[in-house]
Amino acid sequence: MYVYDTMPMLISLSLPALPICPESPSMSQDSSSHPDSASHPGQSHVSRMGFPRDSVTQPSSPPVYLTAAFDVPGIDVLYGMSAGTHHGHIYTRDSNPNHTALADSIAALEGAEAGAVFASGMGALGSILLTLLSQGDHLIVANALYGRSLQLVERLRLQLGLTVTVADVSNPATFGAAVTSRTRLALVETVSNPLLEVADIQALATSLGSIPLVVDATFSTPELIRPLSLGASIVFHSASKYLNGHGDLMLGVAAGSANMMKRLTETASLFGQNANPFESWLCQRGLRTLPLRMKQTCDSTRKIADFLASHPAVRRVHYPLLTSHRSFQLASRLYPHGTGGIVSFELNGGGEASVNQFIQHSTSIPFSPTLADARTTISWPAGTSHKFMSAERRAEMGITTELIRLSVGLEPHELLIAELTQVFDRISPKKQM
Ligand SMILES: Cc1ncc(COP(=O)(O)O)c(C=O)c1O
Repeated sequence: MYVYDTMPMLISLSLPALPICPESPSMSQDSSSHPDSASHPGQSHVSRMGFPRDSVTQPSSPPVYLTAAFDVPGIDVLYGMSAGTHHGHIYTRDSNPNHTALADSIAALEGAEAGAVFASGMGALGSILLTLLSQGDHLIVANALYGRSLQLVERLRLQLGLTVTVADVSNPATFGAAVTSRTRLALVETVSNPLLEVADIQALATSLGSIPLVVDATFSTPELIRPLSLGASIVFHSASKYLNGHGDLMLGVAAGSANMMKRLTETASLFGQNANPFESWLCQRGLRTLPLRMKQTCDSTRKIADFLASHPAVRRVHYPLLTSHRSFQLASRLYPHGTGGIVSFELNGGGEASVNQFIQHSTSIPFSPTLADARTTISWPAGTSHKFMSAERRAEMGITTELIRLSVGLEPHELLIAELTQVFDRISPKKQM
């Protein structure tokens, strides 16, 4: 039980009467003549102040452990921690109470044995790939994935001499058919970025047999689907998105077996992919409102998708609960309450110039290359999340130049529809007729 009392202590230390400066001659004298006295720099030095005091009360909000390391009372304790007979933390790159709290929360939400936290969603994926893959191995990736995930796979393919099969996520049998003796994992997204292709996790896991299915559930969150219960081996998220939900941090999380999470955490620690304690704390706070936020954004997104689908300035809408979407049947079965807060749409021609016009006239809905903020934002996949691939590859994936990705926030949907209407009116008044 701790209370933090930093400020008053620092203030009293700043009084001129107290010898706090180690360079002060009077202080040096003091320290040599009275090594254990209260005036000894070892007792009163500012570097030792501000630590918790015992208290009969507990903080109502979990403390943030902004510390690089933890004081260990003895070598026997150090050994005990390695042997698992003592529990605690030693160094924040390896573990920290805020990591553990968040990892445990994710494990509970995903119905997993254990969780793990990372510096970012890419940190989570990087740690998973570096843990499971060795030189010459084979992996299978879905044809619809976040651009940077594909870029990371490509980087590792070149560096580790991997072979990679790109399989059609809408046809789970293609995953099983691609398995070889060197296949170590398959990677899919629950609902893909940015075209919202829905993965049938259960069918994919069945098709893959014993090959670990790694699922990026960033777009759906455990509020909408729990991939481990459908046969996935590892689920991970960019917690920079919905799990935190406020657009103010970078974080990744994963959940799965205790053994796998331990291995992932060891990799993350070695490669410096550890999360920051304060951001872990912030995400923990964000999780408290996840159910409310997901419900609100799912409800609004359905209405906005309908609005976009009926607008003449829009050529095509990508939202799985519209009958026109290729995942409609599957999404209706797996996501009866909504697929999250993303809807992508293509403007009626005009290329990059019309996207730029849209962005410039969208004064209340900012162009911000992220998603799942509490406020509504737009992004342009061809120039952000998928800019690292060739135009031909983007075209193959269906990511056109005129594609805009809308991340629906927590504003009332009526307001958002009015604002979008205004932007369309400004960019193409003639197309409204
Ligand atoms: C689906 C998906 N997975 C992973 C990531 C990477 O997460 P982060 O930006 O936290 O590294 C993103 C980022 O946008 C994403 O959209």
